[in-house]
Amino acid sequence: MADSLAFFQDVQDPILDVGCGDGIPTATLAEQHRVIGVDFASTMLQRAKRSLSSTDFLRASIDHLPFQNGSVPAASCYFVLSDYTDRARLLSELKRVLHAQGKLVVADYSSNDEFNNLSDNLQRKVLGKDRGMFRLNSIALGNELERTGFRVKTSKEICYSLRTRLETFVDQLYLSSAGPEYKKKHLSEDQWGELLSEWMEGTEVHVTRRFVLVLAEKLYQEGR
Ligand SMILES: C[S@@+](CC[C@H](N)C(=O)[O-])C[C@H]1O[C@@H](n2cnc3c(N)ncnc32)[C@H](O)[C@@H]1O
Repeated sequence: MADSLAFFQDVQDPILDVGCGDGIPTATLAEQHRVIGVDFASTMLQRAKRSLSSTDFLRASIDHLPFQNGSVPAASCYFVLSDYTDRARLLSELKRVLHAQGKLVVADYSSNDEFNNLSDNLQRKVLGKDRGMFRLNSIALGNELERTGFRVKTSKEICYSLRTRLETFVDQLYLSSAGPEYKKKHLSEDQWGELLSEWMEGTEVHVTRRFVLVLAEKLYQEGR
């Protein structure tokens, strides 16, 4: 978020935070800017409104934003694109609403993110199915933005080490959307330890989280 705030330092408000979810990154942006949070899930927006009562929120889909061409100074999109195989439509809608030289921050899970890769493996092994997420790398995401009509200013991978006690890891898995299916398997702690052995260090699951971050500006095009 420090990179986002530095990149947005001189922008006019508002910043559109698309796919704002329950408003965690929105809250950081809102400390320094007027932000409009956009999400298509009303449950997410209700949660966001509860914690950020003075921020505006709008229910809309990223591929049909209710804003005129070139009317938005800046936008952010955190952890949304990896749900989509075809990101071109979402990115071109963001480009449509942004000012010429409007700023866009995109962050998402990297293809090297060990936590997601571990979760994918686990789901295939235990539940026999794919999680259906599309991971990016910073170069590929930068190229997609360039093809859509943005100039990439920065494109990088952000890493940090994450250690979670095995029982906490399993508890969190049970709270995920696949949680009920995992619970039905009634796996013991030893079985979980065995499944996660590659990632275990003592009693902890250890992974390196890796995210991609791209900071870009809409190219100035006469007449658009
Ligand atoms: C993984 S959450 C990320 C939430 C938040 N940006 C964050 O980083 O904590 C993805 C969010 O994007 C929203 N979303 C996904 N596709 C969307 C779309 N086409 N239009 C609007 N919101 C979308 C989901 O409802 C969800 O709240």
